[in-house]
Amino acid sequence: MAQTKTIYTCQSCGAQSPKWLGKCSACNEWNTYVEEIVEKKQSTGKLSVQISGNQPITLENIEMARTQRISVGIEEFNRVLGGGIVPGSLILLGGDPGIGKSTLALQLALGLNGKKILYISGEESLQQIKLRAERLSNAKSNCLFLSETSLEHIIAQSEQAKPELLIIDSIQTISTELIESSPGSVGQVRECTSAILKFAKKNHVAVVLIGHITKEGSLAGPKVLEHMVDTVLQFEGDTNYMYRILRSNKNRFGSTNELGIFEMRSDGLREITNPSEQLISKVNVDVSGTAIAATVEGVRPFLIEIQALVSSAAYGTPQRSSTGFDLRRLNMLLAVLEKRAGFKLIAKDVFLNIAGGLKINDPATDLAVICSILSSNIDIAINHKICFAGEVGLTGEIRAVSRIEQRIAEAAKLGFSRIYVPTLNKGFDASKFKIDIVKVSRVEEVFKTIF
Ligand code: TYD
Ligand code: MG
Repeated sequence: MAQTKTIYTCQSCGAQSPKWLGKCSACNEWNTYVEEIVEKKQSTGKLSVQISGNQPITLENIEMARTQRISVGIEEFNRVLGGGIVPGSLILLGGDPGIGKSTLALQLALGLNGKKILYISGEESLQQIKLRAERLSNAKSNCLFLSETSLEHIIAQSEQAKPELLIIDSIQTISTELIESSPGSVGQVRECTSAILKFAKKNHVAVVLIGHITKEGSLAGPKVLEHMVDTVLQFEGDTNYMYRILRSNKNRFGSTNELGIFEMRSDGLREITNPSEQLISKVNVDVSGTAIAATVEGVRPFLIEIQALVSSAAYGTPQRSSTGFDLRRLNMLLAVLEKRAGFKLIAKDVFLNIAGGLKINDPATDLAVICSILSSNIDIAINHKICFAGEVGLTGEIRAVSRIEQRIAEAAKLGFSRIYVPTLNKGFDASKFKIDIVKVSRVEEVFKTIF
């Protein structure tokens, strides 16, 4: 019989102590002790050398059970997962509070007809779930709901209900009796996830676990939580805006390049299949300070509006602020403009904004960023039928970008008349696109032609 007791382990050096310690006496790190369950197995004192359990076999002898993925009712979600949920897999869905994780999970549960689903919430009562479900359009489903926070009850109920998909909202609210620390602590999160993982693999049940994001921006709980699960999905966006992006940071069963775009409406989340059309405002036609970037997020091309405002600094130190774009990169681009193109921005405040509250990581937005800054600085609008794709290097050179053909095709599809691309991007057939393609190799060249 296995006996259980708990012990505190330093996450930094592995030292153990029966009590919690603020500072590790072995490695002197602070606040690294986490409660863990230790199982003492009765040992016979001898090393067993019997051959038992699994035998090693060659690749060709491994039988493939054809895993039929569970296709959920939300296409964007399927795509991010690589074509649906793999039975028996553990998916972690993380995101800031209020971003819409519970809404997404509930829509997932309600949209899957003909599958047995168990939705367990440790955050909301059944009445609250019903209220939320009523706001969503498709509230008819045979999904089972349970409001519960005890891990032991959750496992027992799931074993009894035998669902094909188990949704748990959220991992930080559930706790096991075996550990004394409070729900949400590292030890609890880790033990609960490992118990759920065992249950999922044993019973071949797919599990969606919702997790919170800490102040520092990482998924709460140790990094080990991300190692334990098969897929880590991140739901992000600015809660003041309606757009949300679903990305996969890790996926054992698909690529991590895909992303899904949603819009939060009063009746729940709606998929956006044509992001470019939504993200370019039709109002700001020929206003200075805006430029359109042809970006690719993951493998998805879309056009997005970059807005900049350059004004004389009111205080001695000029302000530089940016939403949705890396501030350090903005500072770097401003330095390049100053040094290589001779623009005097030293006494100017610069504000940069990516439309829709989205965060853009694609370096190919650089060119549109500097063009929007200059446009605002000299107060001359850039023609709204022009868009840009190009990374700007420290010497002011325009560097090659990935997936150039997709960017051009997307711009042509949306009726843009001209796109600026790096000269260094070679090897594509410009004649097959119905758009004027201008190749540029330095930032100064771009400015000469657009203004
Ligand atoms: P929620 O799913 O509770 O966020 P999370 O679980 O990530 O903390 O959703 C939070 C916000 O979404 C909430 O502020 C209200 C808004 N919302 C809508 O705009 N429309 C809706 O249909 C629903 C259900 C929520
Ligand atoms: Mg929630």
